[in-house]
Amino acid sequence: MSTSQSFIMSVSLAGTGHAVPEKSFPNTDFEKTLDTSDAWIVQRTGIRERRFAEIHETTSSYAARAAKKALDASGLTPEQIGMVVVATTTPDMRIPATANIVQNELGLVNAYSYDIVAACSGFVFAMVAANAHIRSGLTSSALVIASDLYSSILDFEDRNTAVLFGDGAGAAVLAKQEKSEWAPDGRPSGVVAVSLNTDATRWDNLTCLGGGTAGRKTLSSAQPGFVRMDGRDVFKQAVQACEARIRDVLDASGCKPEHIACLIPHQANIRIIEKVAQNVGYPLERMAINLDRYGNMAAASIPVALDEAVRNGRVGPGDLILLVAAGAGFSSAAMLLRV
Ligand code: UT7
Repeated sequence: MSTSQSFIMSVSLAGTGHAVPEKSFPNTDFEKTLDTSDAWIVQRTGIRERRFAEIHETTSSYAARAAKKALDASGLTPEQIGMVVVATTTPDMRIPATANIVQNELGLVNAYSYDIVAACSGFVFAMVAANAHIRSGLTSSALVIASDLYSSILDFEDRNTAVLFGDGAGAAVLAKQEKSEWAPDGRPSGVVAVSLNTDATRWDNLTCLGGGTAGRKTLSSAQPGFVRMDGRDVFKQAVQACEARIRDVLDASGCKPEHIACLIPHQANIRIIEKVAQNVGYPLERMAINLDRYGNMAAASIPVALDEAVRNGRVGPGDLILLVAAGAGFSSAAMLLRV
């Protein structure tokens, strides 16, 4: 079962931002240490390079940089932000939430903050939560951030996972929009429809035991918990789940694929993106794709692609965009919104 809903729009996308590490690592770097090749990685995934943070850098430091850019773009002051939510599966520490650290760093003195754990679907789950908080009247604006440094949980001796991921952060500001601010055609910008789903029977196809109670007896400091994945199963699940979530929001909104100016999918594998495009009848050239440059940045992939699309003018005011993600849990999420 999925949960989908159509809204009378009044929660708008007020600003976006992103931050990625400076240092880029091409596929050929892995040829030195793993039984792999640039040709295999490009052909099977579409990834050419990824960025990894320095060891002294943290998830919150990237989150704060992305969030600051989104806040600046929104024109809101730090005092006007009422909620901060960080989607991450690589938090700075177990306690407190990474969102608390970001809130303090940016001086968001009137906000409450917490983290969301929904792996690669985390940003869309966080956007749905912020939308609901704003619509319920709990707050009138929210900073929604996704930041993941998977370099901190990668086993660089495992070719099945090491070549796939990269580090980065993206952010968006959602804000309540009064009816008087709606476009002259009477159509508000903002969230149109959402769909969330978790097939928890597949929770074990993508895991990281590090830092959790389940690994206490088996993990040692010599064998810290790394990401482990049944790639083929995750691949199949991701295609099916993304397709289902896209169909949900199209059905809920009455929109058709041709109405969507840009589809922004999670960036795990170009072959997943191609299959989803084909299955829902959406042109690949209208999809935002950045995995060739960044690899899979987990929750951060979508907001980074969103910010790039906004800043390079690929999407603009009035455009309908669709965010769709799938990942560990097995979770999937979609959000249709008008910029
Ligand atoms: O963000 C959500 C989480 N992640 C994903 O959504 C990723 C989903 N899965 C995938 O993208 C793909 O399944 C992978 C990229 C992980 C793997 O691609 P695949 O085409 O499904 O390969 P496979 O798992 O079927 O493996 C084919 C062969 C295997 O060798 P054998 O058993 O046939 O001898 C693998 O060991 O490719 C081998 N292989 C590699 N070879 C060279 C796996 N990784 C590599 C590698 N370089 N890096």
